[in-house]
Amino acid sequence: MAAQVISGKEIAAQIRAELKSEVEKLAARGIQPGLAVILVGDDPASHSYVKGKEKAAVELNFHSEVHRLPESVSEQDVLALIGKLNEDPKIHGILVQLPLPRHISEKAVIQAIDPEKDVDGFHPQNVGNMYIGLPAFLPCTPHGVIQMLKRSGVEIAGKHAVVIGRSNIVGKPMAQLLLSENATVTICHSRTPDLAAMTKQADILVAAVGRAGTVRADMVKPGAVVIDVGVNRVDGKLVGDCLFDELSEVAGMITPVPGGVGPMTITMLMYNTVESAKRH
Ligand code: GUN
Repeated sequence: MAAQVISGKEIAAQIRAELKSEVEKLAARGIQPGLAVILVGDDPASHSYVKGKEKAAVELNFHSEVHRLPESVSEQDVLALIGKLNEDPKIHGILVQLPLPRHISEKAVIQAIDPEKDVDGFHPQNVGNMYIGLPAFLPCTPHGVIQMLKRSGVEIAGKHAVVIGRSNIVGKPMAQLLLSENATVTICHSRTPDLAAMTKQADILVAAVGRAGTVRADMVKPGAVVIDVGVNRVDGKLVGDCLFDELSEVAGMITPVPGGVGPMTITMLMYNTVESAKRH
């Protein structure tokens, strides 16, 4: 039987409708959520992601600022801009699009953001709080995946979740959030010797590798829930890390690319910005 397709697009639209009414409630109190995005350099993928974020913010009636800086900008100038945004009462969320050019320290930039405005959830204070279960901004992509699972009726507690990928942005926080939901969690990565032996045990499989064709049908347990976080361009076409067509014949549920995790990431950024505005 063909797998049920989990539409990130539809779930994202649902959450955005909920956010719209939150934004109206804030407006009645004279508060408009404000999001500032900093984009350095000319990477076309980053420009396209930032456009999506800007569009979503405008559609939700946020105050939206995008600071597009040249590749040659100094770290000091980026840190100075973050300092200004930290102090700006119109701004509730600050996001610096990654990756940054090599001459700018990602660590220094992330640590310069006021943790109360760190809507990406990348600041060590938010990461630490998330790990010990204190209130924190949750990183947008893994948080979006949890929302997709819950809103599709997937029971997480007691399941074996296997995450492929160990990045700070997706893999590591994904594993932690699944653990917080009482899954048994395995993290696989490039040095895992027999990936298929691990992925075949997954009730919930999250692929966050960034390489097309990583997950084939013979690596998935029949009926498993497969979440594809990958975004890869192959022959001009966007594809995930999973071979969607063949996995559809084996999995119980699967997310498409595009229209899966991508719209959720942007939506959870809007969610975090609304949360931040509510707190201020
Ligand atoms: N680059 C790729 N994904 C992300 C993300 O979630 N946040 C930021 N800031 N940069 C990214």
